[in-house]
Amino acid sequence: MQHVDLKEIRAGLHVGKKVTVCGWVRTSRDSKNVAFAELNDGTELSHTQVVFDKAKFNDNDLAPMLALGAALRVVGDVVNGQREGTYEIQAESAELLGGSDGTYPLQKKRHTMEFLRTIPHLRVRTNTFNAVFRVRSELSYAIHEFFHKNGYYYVHSPIITGSDCEGAGEVFKVTTVGFDPTVKSEEEYYKKDFFGRSAGLTVSGQLEGEVMATALGKIYTFGPTFRAENSNTPRHAAEFWQVEPEVAFADIDDIIGIATDMIKYITSYILEHCATELKFFEERFEAGLIAKLQNVADSDFARIDYKDAIEVLKKSGKQFVYPVEWGLDLQTEHERYLTDEYFKKPVFVVNYPRKIKSFYMKQNADGVTVAATDLLVPGVGEIIGCSEREADYDKLLNEIKSRGMKLADYANYLDLRKFGSVPHSGFGLGLERMLMYVTGMSNIRDVIEFSRTKDDLK
Ligand code: 4AD
Ligand code: MG
Repeated sequence: MQHVDLKEIRAGLHVGKKVTVCGWVRTSRDSKNVAFAELNDGTELSHTQVVFDKAKFNDNDLAPMLALGAALRVVGDVVNGQREGTYEIQAESAELLGGSDGTYPLQKKRHTMEFLRTIPHLRVRTNTFNAVFRVRSELSYAIHEFFHKNGYYYVHSPIITGSDCEGAGEVFKVTTVGFDPTVKSEEEYYKKDFFGRSAGLTVSGQLEGEVMATALGKIYTFGPTFRAENSNTPRHAAEFWQVEPEVAFADIDDIIGIATDMIKYITSYILEHCATELKFFEERFEAGLIAKLQNVADSDFARIDYKDAIEVLKKSGKQFVYPVEWGLDLQTEHERYLTDEYFKKPVFVVNYPRKIKSFYMKQNADGVTVAATDLLVPGVGEIIGCSEREADYDKLLNEIKSRGMKLADYANYLDLRKFGSVPHSGFGLGLERMLMYVTGMSNIRDVIEFSRTKDDLK
């Protein structure tokens, strides 16, 4: 269908010319001699005004073309708008491509986020979600660009796996076998199943990423990961996207440097390429958003040892709900205090106790901590989980055994430590968490078009 993108009209490329444009009616006004429709075709956040001279249009034809949500094709002249630097289209003829009646749920008023979550198939037609998904696309592109420019290979890790990378027991089962009351044991049950063993949806592409990195050197995966986390919080989803670089010949300090460079790069990219959207989020959702992001792009991140972070929390004078003690994991409230109030910028918390972290992390010389770090950011908390990996065969073997994990599931992974083992490190950035940080959206359900959370799948 030959037509011009509205983005080009708004850029002033066709002024004085006759064009054909398409789009959905986002708002409209009708008066005695003239009617106006604001059209949006998805090429830009802002709308383009179409002016209908009522002398040229039959009332019965025009009315459905002014309905909110209707899809139109319009032929008309591009002229200067009322405000300097704006352009509008004087319609000569118009065609209703798809009508929309009074039941269209997006009316002129401002809808609540809760209501909009009930209509995931339509909410992207609001300015807010249009902006969110535009930024999501740009952010994904920026991530690819950063890694590509820095010599990383993009590899694809499997969605169906037989191991639990994080060992947290949050794996969704993949099965074709239904309920069978005659089955005696778990083993017997899985024998009958599709793979002849238990299988699940991946919680992380890391283990396969390590395989690739120990041949290709620098790789990243970027894809969906799944967690059957029973936590109904604004920052946990059952399905979310993770970017996971894995780098051979890199220690914990190297990977912290890489994570910092990546966050700065993608933040600068969004500042440059999504200025309209950020201005919108700043006005509607988070005052000071643009200055915050500029600060991320321009200044250093903080870094603190886990044991010192515990001291900071203890001395904060705050009444936390969860206890603060060496050896206990940091809860969201602790993370938020450290980053929102104490550092007021992104902070890497380094060297966590071994017992609260995953099996694959490199054991520090003290025997009780691991070379692991989380990057915490104001307003969101953890956005990156990162570590140097244990490269020593025996230490890793003991860790797998002592955690009661099934050795057979990790045999290939252990092999990597048998044949040319090297220091290597990696991290996982939650795409939605980063998106929340960049847009100021406070609920993860609002940065995924079709969000999957506990008891909620639409
Ligand atoms: O800290 P996590 O669990 O680390 C890993 O999975 C490592 N295997 C990554 C690696 O080293 N390659 O998860 C990484 C990030 C978190 O920091 C968070 O941003 C995001 O993934 N994340 C979630 N995002 C949304 N919903 C959830 N349920 C999430 N769980 C983790
Ligand atoms: Mg984590």
